Amino acid sequence: MKTQVAIIGAGPSGLLLGQLLHLQGIDTVILEARTPEYVLSRIRAGVLEQGTVDLLREAQAHSRMDRIGLIHEGVALSFNGRCERIDLKNLSGGKTVMVYGQTEVTRDLMDARAGNGGISIYEAQDVRLHDVYSDKPRVTFVKDGEEVTLECDFIAGCDGFHGVSRQSVPADAIKTFERVYPFGWLGILSETPPVSHELIYANHPRGFALCSMRHSMLSRYYVQCTLEDKVEEWPDERFWEELKIRLPAHAAASLVTGPSIEKSIAPLRSFVAEPMKFGRLFLVGDAAHIVPPTGAKGLNLAAGDVRTLYRILRKHYQEGRSDLLDRYSEICLRRVWKAERFSWWMTSMLHKFSDDPFAQRIQLAELEYYTGSLAGRTTIAENYVGLPYEPIE
Ligand code: APR
Ligand code: PHB
Repeated sequence: MKTQVAIIGAGPSGLLLGQLLHLQGIDTVILEARTPEYVLSRIRAGVLEQGTVDLLREAQAHSRMDRIGLIHEGVALSFNGRCERIDLKNLSGGKTVMVYGQTEVTRDLMDARAGNGGISIYEAQDVRLHDVYSDKPRVTFVKDGEEVTLECDFIAGCDGFHGVSRQSVPADAIKTFERVYPFGWLGILSETPPVSHELIYANHPRGFALCSMRHSMLSRYYVQCTLEDKVEEWPDERFWEELKIRLPAHAAASLVTGPSIEKSIAPLRSFVAEPMKFGRLFLVGDAAHIVPPTGAKGLNLAAGDVRTLYRILRKHYQEGRSDLLDRYSEICLRRVWKAERFSWWMTSMLHKFSDDPFAQRIQLAELEYYTGSLAGRTTIAENYVGLPYEPIE
């Protein structure tokens, strides 16, 4: 088998890259370890930056998003009995975010790929990368018991944090940076109206809480939990009770509760691998970096990598600009580290790390300072809606 770009992983990164390259006439094959149903069963974040929305439009996978996605012009931070709205639109020169679940983005991209005849091989086992430092890299995998070789020009490692691509790189060629947080998020999905028309991020002495949504009858809520907590220890009643305690009074009073239709616990981690390119292998999205979800940046960072790689590959194939290939890593990493910083900072400011009263007072002072000054609110807004992309000449 032969293609131009072999894409490992059919999550949002792999599918979006495949779609954008396809529209430029660049051939791709996507290899995915799991089934499409499994990929679609993962509930992940749901806030798209303006730049991600624009890229999905460029990929022509936007019609359902534009129909049912919710445009949000603000977001609230709650602390010390107060609720402060950050006016994202006015503070960022008119930018907004779109609330549209990652599962939906993935479904739209899967449909687009099915519609354009692109090859996706699901349940590809034992995927291995070969000769990435040569001009003729290869990927081998096992499908239905048979070993297949895929020859290509480039490999895009879009296979997430636990994928094979990053692990294939020689240990002395890669440097990793990591922070693991001493808590997790317990999240539920419930078919109830969202408590507020905008997201609420809450700092509370008992721990962080977040009110989010998917649409007018589907809410997504989270509470900070310990790493030892088990989902079985959190029946719905306990979840709702804890959420109410952590929310501002007006929100707690109007919260509509109901049975959860999904409940899961996720640990929080910051992680970056440097560089993001090794010979003809490019790491994209979660394969290269992880952020804690507090800034809603995971999917958006992945889309940023895809945007950069897509533009660089397009210039390589259409204009012979092979010099840009070596700039992928530095261009991505500059933006990645800024989003890592924002995600770490939001996490640090909003979560309970210990019982230390000094640390709690410092968090409240920080929240008061940032929400009380125009410069502070602008800082939050410009990061939340997404920092600009570097031009690729
Ligand atoms: N071979 C083939 N496919 C693999 C392999 C492998 N060895 N290992 C993992 N995969 C697949 C996974 O099954 C998954 O479908 O790669 C895909 C990676 O998808 P994601 O983990 O979703 O990563 P990515 O596409 O980069 O998405 C970016 O945004 O909201 C955030 O963290 C969230 O996943 C999300 C991310
Ligand atoms: C979500 O809707 O799942 C969500 C929203 C914002 C975040 C994290 C998750 O920061």
